Amino acid sequence: MTAAATLWRNGRIATCTSVAAAADARADAFVTSGGRIEWIGFERALDAPLRARCGATHDLGGRLVTPGLVDCHTHLVFAGDRAHEFAERQRGVSYEDIAKRGGGILATVRATRAAGTEALLAASAPRLEALAAEGVTAIEIKSGYGLTLEDEARMLEVARALGRRYDIDVRTTYLAAHAVPPEFAGRADEYVRTLSREWLPTLVARRLVDSVDIYCDRGAFTAAQARVLFEAARALGLAVRMHAGQFADVGGVAVATEFAALSCDHLEELSAADIARLAAAGTVAVLLPVAYYTLGQTRAPPVAALRDAGVPIAVATDCNPGTSPCVSLLLAINMACRLFGLTPEEALAGITCQAARALALDGHGTLAGGGPADFVVWDVAAPWELSYWSGLDASRAVARRGAIVRGAL
Ligand code: NIG
Ligand code: FE
Repeated sequence: MTAAATLWRNGRIATCTSVAAAADARADAFVTSGGRIEWIGFERALDAPLRARCGATHDLGGRLVTPGLVDCHTHLVFAGDRAHEFAERQRGVSYEDIAKRGGGILATVRATRAAGTEALLAASAPRLEALAAEGVTAIEIKSGYGLTLEDEARMLEVARALGRRYDIDVRTTYLAAHAVPPEFAGRADEYVRTLSREWLPTLVARRLVDSVDIYCDRGAFTAAQARVLFEAARALGLAVRMHAGQFADVGGVAVATEFAALSCDHLEELSAADIARLAAAGTVAVLLPVAYYTLGQTRAPPVAALRDAGVPIAVATDCNPGTSPCVSLLLAINMACRLFGLTPEEALAGITCQAARALALDGHGTLAGGGPADFVVWDVAAPWELSYWSGLDASRAVARRGAIVRGAL
């Protein structure tokens, strides 16, 4: 027997199967069954046998419908906060100087290690809840505030547990190469070998790792150290990504693209040669405008050159206690438009199809036949309104696998 189906009609549906398809309505109806989209298009083209199978019909009231949003770069599992560093920066001390004095990432490492696993989960949950309430149905969460084998494992376990608790698709990223912990002070190469060759295989065996990341920048790790990590990842069949060019170009993108990285993220400092490398490798450029804004940076990523080269562009919150205390993906796209010059359709594609691509989450971030029926019904009519407003709670209903799980029509 064929599964019962549901018809969702009278919507203004941005399918987001491409940047152009994030610009306007490409459909006004779709049919879901078994948690998937079985058919999508204009209702007048819906054939009679499928219509007859639709046991339930929902009227979308002419509202905008998009795929469930995808936040493809977050550090949302952490304990404590760094509001005191924000205050210091307001007095003129730089992010990099705070890090040199043992603050910054290492301050959050101390707080995260000290927190019990339940406390870590409780601290992180409201951040995921806020993103989910806005329409996020898939998210990447990095480790990187544990920096011991067991503390990194705890972070990744908490990330997985959050996904189960809130019914969100969580992709975990191993970021032990975020800072050199005190146990390895002055021995960065040895730390990278340990986290690559000893810890990573253990965490992979525990099924905690979906991809691998490294913070490759001035004051962080080198391109040569990235290579050590990426070779270990490749041996385990894992995809890689990189924090690159936030403050300086230290040659990371050349290594990342050599390993066909899924994404390179930040990219304020990016050469023309590296743009060509990203394009050739099909690596997604993940832009993090809230971090740029929070740190008061002034050199935006070369968006026009990325666009011209055909590099896929995604946008993410970078939710973290240091550079991006932010739990709104819509604010991130507002800033991506205003600070980086993205068009509204590039911005919407950046938090749907392009973000899914950065996570290798096939079928997510788009509304297409055969894909998961994860979608958001908005209290606005046009796609560009999503990056136009800030602070408007516009998400009216969120559906997962064909069922409304938040809000109501
Ligand atoms: O993406 N730049 C490195 N990592 C984070 C910041 C982490 C932190 O400051 O705690 C980022 O901006
Ligand atoms: Fe980050």
